[in-house]
Amino acid sequence: MSHRLAAITGATSGIGAAYAEAFAQQGYNLLLTGRREQELNRLAERLRQQFTIDVTLQIGDLSDQHDLQTLVDTVTQLPALDALVNNAGYAVDGRLGDIDWPQHRALLDVHVTATTQLTHAALPNLIKAKGILINVASVASWIPTTQSALYGPTKAYVRSFTEGVGLAYRKDGLKALALCPGFTVTDFHSRMGIDPDTFYKQKGFTRAWTAAQVVAQSFKDLENGRLISVQGWNYKLMVFFVRHLPLSWLSAALGRSKSARFTK
Ligand SMILES: NC(=O)c1ccc[n+]([C@@H]2O[C@H](COP(=O)([O-])OP(=O)(O)OC[C@H]3O[C@@H](n4cnc5c(N)ncnc54)[C@H](OP(=O)(O)O)[C@@H]3O)[C@@H](O)[C@H]2O)c1
Repeated sequence: MSHRLAAITGATSGIGAAYAEAFAQQGYNLLLTGRREQELNRLAERLRQQFTIDVTLQIGDLSDQHDLQTLVDTVTQLPALDALVNNAGYAVDGRLGDIDWPQHRALLDVHVTATTQLTHAALPNLIKAKGILINVASVASWIPTTQSALYGPTKAYVRSFTEGVGLAYRKDGLKALALCPGFTVTDFHSRMGIDPDTFYKQKGFTRAWTAAQVVAQSFKDLENGRLISVQGWNYKLMVFFVRHLPLSWLSAALGRSKSARFTK
């Protein structure tokens, strides 16, 4: 049995929980974080029983400076770390001026500061282990999210940051991946007040995938040495179009759309 260790932020539900399951299946011990203590405890207990691994929890809010610093200290002091998944994230719906500054600052802290600081703290151990760094961005990292002001920009940062770090440390053996999911069935949209039963489509261009499918694809992409992982024919096609069509077409389409908000 291997005693490798994976640290995963936002492991309570959705993609983070699917990563916890996938790393547990591969025999990793886990350090899991999130705010919902009861749910995390339930997940940890199940994984301990099912896979006979050690699971440590650190409860905290990554938009809280003290909680983030505590987690950074924990990660810095780990004698070894083989994988880090910066997954915690969410969206706030609204144009820039619709949302007050504390909400913007919190999103910047969770997506940008926490991802960057935890990656920085973990890097020496990850390099020593020739380990894995997965940072969760989004298909939205290529699309101006007009009605969710900081979501697209912060995810563009996460993708670009991960590509840069991945290339800079590739020769040192680091395997880095920017995970760029499209719609994925998780708690993400229900937290925004959206009814998951009607929102997630099972076919068509905006079809949603399961967190397990997204995670399985990411391990295949890591094996193939890719820096970016996009699950699903539909989102691969979407990313291709967004990257290759003239920018003026995208601007015209987004400028015209009145209802790019999730919740309206
Ligand atoms: N679902 C999609 O369609 C989709 C598409 C593209 C990208 N993504 C990205 O995928 C990642 C995972 O989201 P998900 O879809 O799996 O949604 P989810 O089920 O809501 O999971 C989000 C996770 O992030 C944690 N989290 C959120 N805010 C936090 C904070 N302030 N401090 C600490 N932890 C926090 C949550 O834990 P607690 O609630 O316990 O704190 C939860 O475990 C996010 O980065 C999201 O942007 C999702």
